[in-house]
Amino acid sequence: MYSDEFKESLCAVEASREKNLAYEPPRMTAEEKEALLSEYHPDFKMNEFDTLKVGKNKGSRAPKELCRMLQAHSRVRDGADLSNIKYDVDVLVIGGGGAGAAAAIEANSAGASVMIVTKLRIGDANTMMAEGGIQAADKPGDSPCIHFLDAYGGGHFAAKRELLSKLVTEAPDALLWLSNLGVEFDKTPDGEMITTHGGGTSRKRMHAAKDYSGAEIMRTLRDEVFNREIPVVDFTSAVEIILDEKGRAAGAVLMNMETGEITAARAKTVIIATGGAGRVHYQGFPTSNHYGATADGLVLGYRAGAKLLYAETLQYHPTGAAYPQQIYGSLVTEKVRSLGAKLVNAAGEVFVHPLETRDVAAAAIIRECGARRLGVDAGNTKAVWLDTPMIEMLGGSGTIEKRIPAMMRMFANFGIDIRKEPILVYPTLHYQNGGLDISARCEVTGVENLFAAGEVVGGIHGKNRLMGNSLLDIIVFGRTAGACAAEAAKKTVSERLTLSHVEKFEKELAAAKIETDDVSPMLLPNYTGKKSMF
Ligand code: FUM
Repeated sequence: MYSDEFKESLCAVEASREKNLAYEPPRMTAEEKEALLSEYHPDFKMNEFDTLKVGKNKGSRAPKELCRMLQAHSRVRDGADLSNIKYDVDVLVIGGGGAGAAAAIEANSAGASVMIVTKLRIGDANTMMAEGGIQAADKPGDSPCIHFLDAYGGGHFAAKRELLSKLVTEAPDALLWLSNLGVEFDKTPDGEMITTHGGGTSRKRMHAAKDYSGAEIMRTLRDEVFNREIPVVDFTSAVEIILDEKGRAAGAVLMNMETGEITAARAKTVIIATGGAGRVHYQGFPTSNHYGATADGLVLGYRAGAKLLYAETLQYHPTGAAYPQQIYGSLVTEKVRSLGAKLVNAAGEVFVHPLETRDVAAAAIIRECGARRLGVDAGNTKAVWLDTPMIEMLGGSGTIEKRIPAMMRMFANFGIDIRKEPILVYPTLHYQNGGLDISARCEVTGVENLFAAGEVVGGIHGKNRLMGNSLLDIIVFGRTAGACAAEAAKKTVSERLTLSHVEKFEKELAAAKIETDDVSPMLLPNYTGKKSMF
């Protein structure tokens, strides 16, 4: 139920609905897309970026907020007692989301002693928030090759080809692995997987568990971690990677999130699986991300000597909830558009194809609300309509409740029945396309015995990720990281531990004349404006 201020534009949307439903908006040409992106996509607002002055990416561009974090002081700049070893394992996994859990399961299968350390609890992660589904080319008429072409083009031909090739080739097996562990994917009564399109896909290969696909996957992975009795140390942050005298990753400095106590974990190999960065709120955007998504892994890896790939590219999901303000920035799954809802401006016009890739759709919405002045005032922001009643007109009554019940509930909490009324949306910060540079064995470039998987990695998707390829990458690369880290651990003999790289980094900051009171990793967002322990 909307108040009167929305009446005029709601009437325009309703009056055009029949016509809009029949209208197939044209796909943009490559040139049109490039022009739109360079003018309206946040990645192209050059005054929002700085040049890094220290570390492996010295001289390259990164968002201002990320530069600040990468060039901040260590939380243990005065040193830490590395003899206070509280945990000693073969493989240390930092992060308790989908990638970390998948890594731990495979390291355990390979016979390694493995432990997960996580600053919140296992499952408090972006994986849990993922809605729309997971891609895998496992149906007739599709193939990993076609999946590759969709993702490579969608990512502006910038993906590391060996990573993307691995992603799409191992996708069907990843799905089978999840099914065998117990994930309940949507199926027809005769047991066939139900698949839909996502933005930029040329085949229907999105497998889902209604619109809580990530929660279903995380539930299953967490159960498996618990069933195997893999130790999980929660409410404990990794604040620095420890190296050994040979410069190899050999553990992490840990901070208890309740007491602030500093201890150390020694390991033969370390996997960074800390997830994304939405809670950094780049350029002031709201986010669809979990509370703990603060780019910690980029900082940990960078100070240890890792290189970042495409740190300057972020994903703004086109359809963040714009109204009511209690859910500002929350994800409105792309599946809503896969099922037939179109994007409509304040005048009731469809202005972009609903399944353009995310960067293009987001830029089109920003243009509509800005330069074209055809946005609706939604309080925190201007916004456009996502005409959800079209879904029931196309798929029949009951489709929304059956296929996207979580969306229906989220808006029903505020008196909006999405079966009958459209919803207001605006782009929300959703995903970091860039991250740690890795090999196809998940080895972090430049730091031996350091591995990475999940959203902290850059290069798998190029400069824009397609829907459903993130739930896929956490499984494909999470499993590989676990197996490869366990294999490397077997060949590693422990050496003396050191934080000399942290001292060296502090000297680099001083030499670059960087004066700052900031410390990193951020660990938690601070919405109070007051100084906090974190
Ligand atoms: O729109 C969505 O459901 C998001 C999916 C994804 O980021 O892969």
